[in-house]
Amino acid sequence: MTIAITGATGQLGRLVIHDLIPLVGAEKIIALARSPEKAADLGVAVRAADYDAPETLDAALAGIATLLLISGSEIGKRTPQHAAVIKAAQANGVKHIVYTSLLHADTSTLGLAGEHRETEALLKQCGIPYTILRNGWYTENYTGSLPGAVQAGAVLGAAGNGRISSATRADYAAAAAAVLTGSGFENTTIELAGDVAFTLADLAAEASRQTGKTIPYSNLPSGEFAKVLTSIGLPDALATMLAEADVEVSKGVLFHEGTELSDLIGRPTTPLRDSVAAALK
Ligand SMILES: NC(=O)c1ccc[n+]([C@@H]2O[C@H](COP(=O)([O-])OP(=O)(O)OC[C@H]3O[C@@H](n4cnc5c(N)ncnc54)[C@H](OP(=O)(O)O)[C@@H]3O)[C@@H](O)[C@H]2O)c1
Repeated sequence: MTIAITGATGQLGRLVIHDLIPLVGAEKIIALARSPEKAADLGVAVRAADYDAPETLDAALAGIATLLLISGSEIGKRTPQHAAVIKAAQANGVKHIVYTSLLHADTSTLGLAGEHRETEALLKQCGIPYTILRNGWYTENYTGSLPGAVQAGAVLGAAGNGRISSATRADYAAAAAAVLTGSGFENTTIELAGDVAFTLADLAAEASRQTGKTIPYSNLPSGEFAKVLTSIGLPDALATMLAEADVEVSKGVLFHEGTELSDLIGRPTTPLRDSVAAALK
């Protein structure tokens, strides 16, 4: 059984391959990469696979039994890109596609959800057994900016008291590896999120505790928060999208009550204190 992973050079893809090697052996794994030279250090065979170049996808999926389709990173282009991968999987007789979607994609009010809903529909129509992993937010989305927040003296956002059930990329990668190597997951959709939800005020409090400094959470109107993000170098469109997403977060769009992720990986999801410590070390 050969397992192929798209987006293998990305942060999540790398972690999935790391987890899969001891489970199935490197010889059963194929990294699919838009830029194969970036995958040379992964320790598995590499094939070129560009979502925008269908001919590469056809060759890349020859002989593959199980495919992890990690959602692409080019927002607005993803539905046709994912459709091209699914088409190549059909042409090559792939037996199982596992897809990384978004938490509660069917009802999510996040702008990002549309492409995931469209991809989920394509998967359900394609005739290949599928597993949809509806990943929540990465904790790293918040902890990545903590060193700057500590330096500036405040955590800024527009998420109010919204509770965030995030987990680390490593948690989601372990779940993907468990599904890719387990059985009984065909034609299922699994909501994956962290065990313990936090607010951005909780994040600021944990950063304060670990640094011994007083770092408050300052909640801004979304327009003001977008300006802050632009001022630190984010492109306007991305800054607006992130600030608008925060408003949805304030309404609970990233909250999840279940423990499907920790059940799947056989351990609790990474606690916020560990993620904060990793970001501040
Ligand atoms: N849950 C969350 O909080 C969250 C946050 C951000 C993103 N996401 C989603 O989760 C995915 C994985 O996350 P990540 O952290 O691993 O993202 P990442 O580090 O940005 O990796 C994205 C991967 O997709 C590949 N890719 C992009 N466009 C491609 C194309 N046209 N053809 C083939 N490969 C292409 C990239 O290849 P290169 O290495 O060549 O660039 C990279 O390997 C993202 O792509 C996005 O859909 C989720």
